[in-house]
Amino acid sequence: MGALASGAAITGWGVALPEQRLTNADLERLIDTNDAWIVERTGISERRIAGPDESTATLASTAGAAAIKRAGLTPSDIDLLIVATVTPEQPVPHTGAFVGERLGLSCGSFDINAACSGFVYELVVGAAMLRSGMRHVLVIGAETLSRITDPEDRGTAILFGDGAGAAVLSASDNDSLLAWDLGCDGSAADILAVPAGGSRLPASAATVEARGHYLKMQGQEVFRRAVRAVVESARVTLERAGTDASAVDWFVPHQANIRIIESAAARLAIPPERCLVNIARFGNTSSASIPIALFEAVDDGRVKPGDRVLLSGFGAGMTWASALIEWRGE
Ligand code: UT7
Repeated sequence: MGALASGAAITGWGVALPEQRLTNADLERLIDTNDAWIVERTGISERRIAGPDESTATLASTAGAAAIKRAGLTPSDIDLLIVATVTPEQPVPHTGAFVGERLGLSCGSFDINAACSGFVYELVVGAAMLRSGMRHVLVIGAETLSRITDPEDRGTAILFGDGAGAAVLSASDNDSLLAWDLGCDGSAADILAVPAGGSRLPASAATVEARGHYLKMQGQEVFRRAVRAVVESARVTLERAGTDASAVDWFVPHQANIRIIESAAARLAIPPERCLVNIARFGNTSSASIPIALFEAVDDGRVKPGDRVLLSGFGAGMTWASALIEWRGE
């Protein structure tokens, strides 16, 4: 703990992706689908799938270690670890316990389950902790969605992939987080859900038989709400920052479906060349999708210091979250 800072800056970042690829051609052999349909309706060509020795915690740790190193820090410098995931290492304890152990952390940790909005949620929470006196907070979005995807459900099996993205947030009087918006409409909780395995419907032979431990999605309804949520949340965030879409250098939407991204960007009047889109290669990685897309563009030089970046996610809950940040790359 040190003197209170007025803001937060991203000082380190890292990404982890499994080697193993699941292509549309692979899916054609497994379920009743085809490459042309998947590409046209989703924009996805392939996804990364965790191998037998990989899990949410291993991917999170790899991304987290890279972020700590990039920040020029050591594990003892980290004051708090937050892991955003809907695919925890196991129900108890929280995934942060496993990630902290792997990284050599002894600071406090907790998980956030805000689905595909998770990275923006933890960015906002982490920044608040820095304003409360912490110096460095490690936030990680990590998923192994392949472990909860029904391989026989063609409405979801084509969409999801595995991966992780991490950021070190450091206390700074030059605040990078310009404005944000978080929300959740629990009345739509059942349109994207894993119904079994919790307190309401504990695991049993019957729930496994009913495939209740897999993700169920009402695709069209999620799609409709997703566009609306991203557009409204992004607009609120820009308004709170006292600006508009013309000030956005890069739009980083959650990578769920190319048609959702294009529709939301068009409604926000953000041209396609200012959208970061990598869904073709990685599919939907939930809480990992925004940091993977952002840090890929930072590393290849597209996102430059001083750029204003609008992050916007939505997902199960239904949650939504947007943040306008100024990239400093310090
Ligand atoms: O991050 C979490 C948030 N999740 C999302 O944002 C996902 C949002 N939803 C979606 O991305 C889309 O709804 C899907 C990609 C899941 C589905 O696309 P759609 O355009 O909404 O398709 P649909 O469910 O309306 O189905 C259209 C047709 C149907 O055939 P008929 O009834 O018109 O003959 C489906 O049976 O496409 C058929 N279909 C498929 N065909 C080939 C559905 N899935 C497939 C498939 N391959 N995988």
